[in-house]
Amino acid sequence: MKRQTLFDKILILDFGSQYTQLIARRVRECQIYSEIHPYDIPANRVKSLSPKGIIFSGGPASVYEKNAPLCDPVLLKMGIPVLGICYGMQLIAQLLGGEVTHSEKREYGKAKLTIDRNGKLFKGLGRAGSQLVVWMSHGDYVRTLPQGFHGIAHSKNTPFAAIEASQKRIYGLQFHPEVVHTQKGLDLIKNFLFHVCECSNRWTMESFLDQTSHDLKKRIGKEKVICALSGGVDSTVVALLLHKAIGDRLQCIFVNNGLLRKNETSQVVNLFRYHFKIPLITIDAEQSFLKRLEGVTDPEDKRKRIGKEFISIFEREAKKIGGVEYLAQGTLYPDVIESVSSKGPSATIKSHHNVGGLPEKMRLKLVEPLRELFKDEVRHLGRVLGLPDKILKRQPFPGPGLAIRIIGEVDKERLKILRAADEIVMREMEKSDWLDQVWQSFAVLLPVKTVGVMGDERTYENVIALRVVGSQDGMTADWVRLPYRILEHLSNRIINEVKGVNRVVYDISSKPPSTIEWE
Ligand code: XMP
Repeated sequence: MKRQTLFDKILILDFGSQYTQLIARRVRECQIYSEIHPYDIPANRVKSLSPKGIIFSGGPASVYEKNAPLCDPVLLKMGIPVLGICYGMQLIAQLLGGEVTHSEKREYGKAKLTIDRNGKLFKGLGRAGSQLVVWMSHGDYVRTLPQGFHGIAHSKNTPFAAIEASQKRIYGLQFHPEVVHTQKGLDLIKNFLFHVCECSNRWTMESFLDQTSHDLKKRIGKEKVICALSGGVDSTVVALLLHKAIGDRLQCIFVNNGLLRKNETSQVVNLFRYHFKIPLITIDAEQSFLKRLEGVTDPEDKRKRIGKEFISIFEREAKKIGGVEYLAQGTLYPDVIESVSSKGPSATIKSHHNVGGLPEKMRLKLVEPLRELFKDEVRHLGRVLGLPDKILKRQPFPGPGLAIRIIGEVDKERLKILRAADEIVMREMEKSDWLDQVWQSFAVLLPVKTVGVMGDERTYENVIALRVVGSQDGMTADWVRLPYRILEHLSNRIINEVKGVNRVVYDISSKPPSTIEWE
């Protein structure tokens, strides 16, 4: 889908830095649209994207190594402003005839930067001689500059910590302006965007909404789209966006797969039918999902079977409705970046199917209107579309649902136990005001029984594990130090109220090396 006529665009070339996404987000925080591309994007492709500026990310390699990632050198001759960060700066220096070499004194962490020359990049950040604390992370440094460049800042161990060729509008920073530890880092990025690239900040969710609905209308024409709702934020926002764009040609489907949290179905039905007045087909498919899961204990197998069952239901429904050409999906930008990453697609740790596996298997074409957005931007868009706070702040819930929180075989009885425990966790987290403060909080049903004593009777029952994690994006996470009194309360309530459970344990593993979900 071609877009972006309204917004200025910045391209970020990914040389493998752990901060690449952060750079993209910082640019967007300045209300300028940014896109991440692999480092070896051809110059003619860059030209066709007509960016207002390019940022080269950092990366773990050394520019003088044999297989160092190199960009098309033509990029530096196109007249488009370029900012190189860390490896990106070293690459600029090397490609244009400077010298990069290994440093005996590597710099990691905070360093003091002294501004040597005022120019567009340091505009308003201090006069020559003033200092800033910056975040360094490098073992190489630029020893000699290419012609036309001069140093504009230094640190104790780095003579050229910031460089510029103002005529060519090419800049380099040896440190990371995108991380919060760099003082005035965002101001530096803003200076590049507004003073060097001369961007206008028109990337707002309102303008995104206008442009995207316009594009969706054009692309979909008179065809029909089905949208599978999961009850989560992403699919809800996709549905609202499409409804705004194409009205009744959108058909929303909600499948109760029997693996949902308590009251999930009625919440989705109420929101769509009664709050937004958007027609919704609900399908009760508990039996067929449970049948597919019978005797299955392998986590990946569970996910795949659930995915397949979703596919067959969508296909059946699409046929019934007739004239359906598209299936809408809530793919987000981090998923897109993963699949085009210069580091290559990351190993499949878990197949996050959501409604995945669909592209190859279905004849329906995909509509993914959120594929350019980060999660917080989706929430923002949801707010613009009138989504109530309660839904916007919902914790993520995996596509395969409770099936991957029941370790071992999934059946009705075990689902009942987990659902009851999960409901207590939700309500208690809500009551204690912790629900919104954590990334996820849920119960997991373990495939072990332990001995307990209730009243005078010996019991031999199930164990529930509690998983409560904090995270920014789900990629890394840490367990939440919940107050003991809340843990105590949760444990008491679960053991007293959920039949079949006599023990509760708390998961104190971070991600990595563990994952958030247990399967
Ligand atoms: P893990 O367990 O990989 O989870 O640390 C990271 C985040 O992704 C969610 N998750 C899923 N979401 N379909 C989804 O839509 C899935 O199959 C799936 N598996 C994990 C998980 O809840 C966490 O927020």
